[in-house]
Amino acid sequence: MLEPVKIGLFGLGTVGCGVVNVLQRNTNELTRRAGRKIQISHASVRNINKSRLCNTQGIVLTEKPMDLVNNPDIDIVVELIGGTTRAFELVMKAIKQGKHVVTANKALIALHGNEIFAAAQAMGVNVAFEAAVAGGIPIIKAIREGLSGNKINWLAGIINGTSNFILTEMQQKGRSFADVLAEAQKLGYAEADPTFDIQGIDAAHKLTILASIAFGIPLQFNRVYTEGITQIHADDVQYAEKFGYKIKHLGIAKQSNQGVELRVHPALIPERCLIANVNGVMNAILVHGDAVGATLYYGAGAGSNPTASAVVSDLLDVVRTLTVDPENRVPHLAFQPNAISALPILSLAEIETAYYLRLRAIDEPGVLAKVATILSQGGISIEAIYQHEPKTGQKDVDIVLLTHKVKEKQLDKALNALEALPDVVGDVTRIRLETLDA
Ligand code: NDP
Ligand code: HSE
Repeated sequence: MLEPVKIGLFGLGTVGCGVVNVLQRNTNELTRRAGRKIQISHASVRNINKSRLCNTQGIVLTEKPMDLVNNPDIDIVVELIGGTTRAFELVMKAIKQGKHVVTANKALIALHGNEIFAAAQAMGVNVAFEAAVAGGIPIIKAIREGLSGNKINWLAGIINGTSNFILTEMQQKGRSFADVLAEAQKLGYAEADPTFDIQGIDAAHKLTILASIAFGIPLQFNRVYTEGITQIHADDVQYAEKFGYKIKHLGIAKQSNQGVELRVHPALIPERCLIANVNGVMNAILVHGDAVGATLYYGAGAGSNPTASAVVSDLLDVVRTLTVDPENRVPHLAFQPNAISALPILSLAEIETAYYLRLRAIDEPGVLAKVATILSQGGISIEAIYQHEPKTGQKDVDIVLLTHKVKEKQLDKALNALEALPDVVGDVTRIRLETLDA
């Protein structure tokens, strides 16, 4: 049997300790798979005196991560500190030292991946990042290897566990947003800065990565349209249900002759779709390939053990290919580096979807007709309409509509006209509606 392979771990928090626990629990199984023992020899943390949720016996702890980078006995470093400053610096330095890298850091890959992979390519080392998207679901491997015979047409998924956990608890138990977010933080699901979760930024990081490996385009985080879950109102959840839909936070990437759509936002999806029933911290991603059709991947999207599952799988992959000629490894972004090419990214104005609209209007005869006229003049067909009776003591009513598919720019124009009507009170709420049909 070969000598154990030595690993240096940056970070012993939720995911770092998960990795230590899984490696310790499954040592025998993993050694049989890898052909040699995988041993965490060193770990770096911010505060060495903090108590840990894992057994660190036998691991040299330090507050100096550069000790790991400079240690010639360490073959692979695992970056689990998060953020894009220190993490970027450590990863680049490790690559320059000829070390392989495993990371769960989607922000790092989405923002600096192009540079990191170029450096890794030049040094002949591997940078593995399965845990960066959808926690424990092996979605990177599925797209990069399992579906590599296909042209990927589109993918759509629930890719932020914290947002899905919040929406589910609010919908099923009527809990408050703030209360559920605090629980997600306690459970280790949320990012260090949870606004990344609730404002859609984390999902946009993940979508950037998925789109790149699906379509062979560079990582372009700043081209993703990003909206989070903070504006979702309990009334919209209930009205959506009346029409047979659930509201979920989705990441969507589509490739067509016109270009690529990259968007992250809440959406109504038919409750008959499997993905509409993905609840709590679970994630699910639909990937449509031209040969295979629609495929669906489901599992825990965050948390210590599920994320460690992905990190440890990456470790095994890297260990197994340590002696492989770098040219023969699976390319980082699924396509050969010289074949990655930019496609036009469509602006939101050009994107076509159906919509859910809610407006508050004065309860007087003729208002519905005015609303219908404005939509029809804008070339927007109504699929369904519902008017809620006035709530006690109120003169205004909620009018809720579902539209057929229309370009976003056409809808924007019609909404401006609707909001200018004296009978319409305040802004019109709009949520995109996705049928997720093949
Ligand atoms: P935690 O905050 O739980 O842990 C971070 C660890 O890194 C801690 O041990 C901390 O040390 C150390 N650390 C933080 N900043 C620095 C720094 N500047 N220099 C050195 N060490 C530092 O984070 P998570 O484990 O939740 O997340 C780690 C990464 O995994 C992030 O990129 C995150 O996005 C990603 N991820 C997380 C998932 C989850 O479910 N939590 C799921 C998928 C990916 P100390 O403990 O001493 O403070
Ligand atoms: N904060 C992230 C989430 C962790 O909730 O999905 C997993 O990437």
